[in-house]
Amino acid sequence: MKTLIVYSSQTSNTKKLADALYENMAGDKEIFNVGDTPDPEGYDLVAVGFWFQAGKPDPKSSQYLSRMTEDHRVFLFATHGAGAGSDHVRQGLAHAKGLINGAQVAGAFTCQGEVSPQVLEKARQKETPPAWIKDADQAAGHPDASDINALVSMVRQL
Ligand SMILES: Cc1cc2nc3c(=O)[nH]c(=O)nc-3n(C[C@H](O)[C@H](O)[C@H](O)COP(=O)(O)O)c2cc1C
Repeated sequence: MKTLIVYSSQTSNTKKLADALYENMAGDKEIFNVGDTPDPEGYDLVAVGFWFQAGKPDPKSSQYLSRMTEDHRVFLFATHGAGAGSDHVRQGLAHAKGLINGAQVAGAFTCQGEVSPQVLEKARQKETPPAWIKDADQAAGHPDASDINALVSMVRQL
């Protein structure tokens, strides 16, 4: 199996998941930052990793996801400040799946990712703080070893 891993990451949370995928995927694999805009053709699996921004995949990842077609098989992975299993995360993931133009979804993994204190402070000062912020304190220290283990055991079953 030939896998392409493409990730977007500002503060390295999503990069940690991407690196773990790269280390643990069987077969041929390549890893790129989304800024390198790698050609997604010729792979059995394209794993796209994004961070949540305004309840959706960050803009660069959204753009990359929209390059997928129904000929692609895609694995989605993401980090977010919101609580795991929250409606916010469900909706953001659904949004991501809506961007991929009917590509096959081989699986999806998300976990919390530590939010920088400056971002938290700024979000909390807004007149209407975003709903995801209430769980963001628990994102500290994530992704942790157990997040990585869960991701690795998921991809081993692909
Ligand atoms: C500008 C900005 C907007 C964000 N918006 C959201 C959001 O809508 N929902 C959420 O759950 N987390 C949000 N976050 C938190 C990040 O998604 C989270 O910390 C993520 O792990 C960052 O990943 P990275 O380290 O790979 O950049 C936001 C962070 C920033 C900087």
